[in-house]
Amino acid sequence: KEIKLFCPATIANLSCGFDVLGLCLETAGDEMIVRKSDQKGVRITKIVGADLPLETEKNVAGVAALAMLETIETDFGFEIEIYKNIKAGSGIGSSAASSAGAVFGINELLGRPFSRKELVQFAMQGEKLASGNAHADNVAPALLGGFTLVRSYNPLDIIKIDSPEELYATVVHPQIELKTSDARSVLKQNVSLKSAIMQWGNVGGLIAGLYTKDYDLIGRSLHDEIVEPLRSVLIPGFDLIKQAALENGALGSGISGSGPSIFALSRGKETAEKIGKAMSEVYDNIDLPYEIHVSKIN
Ligand code: HSE
Repeated sequence: KEIKLFCPATIANLSCGFDVLGLCLETAGDEMIVRKSDQKGVRITKIVGADLPLETEKNVAGVAALAMLETIETDFGFEIEIYKNIKAGSGIGSSAASSAGAVFGINELLGRPFSRKELVQFAMQGEKLASGNAHADNVAPALLGGFTLVRSYNPLDIIKIDSPEELYATVVHPQIELKTSDARSVLKQNVSLKSAIMQWGNVGGLIAGLYTKDYDLIGRSLHDEIVEPLRSVLIPGFDLIKQAALENGALGSGISGSGPSIFALSRGKETAEKIGKAMSEVYDNIDLPYEIHVSKIN
């Protein structure tokens, strides 16, 4: 018995919500096949599209699956095939897609002993292997869909957030690799009270804007006082891309996850595509290869 999965790309942080906010893209993602096998344990039998380790303990999908199987008895094992489209170090949740896919697939084959929210804690172990930190802001939207909030890490409390139907994301991925661990190492361990006040004001504003479909409020709240100033210097053309997005109708724009991808949110597909075109022109002008994704949030 086997299951074939779409493992979506995700945008974490969403400017003001470092490590707590994320959203799920409808059209960008990997594929995965999870299969029951007579042999106990977890084996990664195939990886296509990326040079990643097949050893279970060194692979994010394997580690997430093992974390899950530690808590439940099975008299069979699992084989996993991974077909990667999301590049590692892209900032749109490559490791999260694999970690979430593995635990989701196994849970389905086991008859769903865990809720989707309960799966987050296992998928986070894949994130820990990939970046040294068990954050949930990519795996939560990958598993639950839509927008999610990590209200608390200890105890883990994941909240699904309603969002307007017409909201679209445009993501540009300049073809350089930025490791999450490196992008985390530039951050400061302390923030000023002044910055914190602005940041939590914006988090509240963004959530309120999503629930009330207040696009202006969503736009005003997509602002990051704390992380973006430190990380944006690692991303070629960041200011120009953000400016192009805002000039072409984006509600807001910022770093996707730990970068180097840059996202913009907008109302309606047409505007999202226009933003994608404007972003392309920026990177065409500086001769930097890139990939663009325009996607509904789902
Ligand atoms: N919240 C994490 C970070 C996401 O920004 O480091 C990593 O994909």
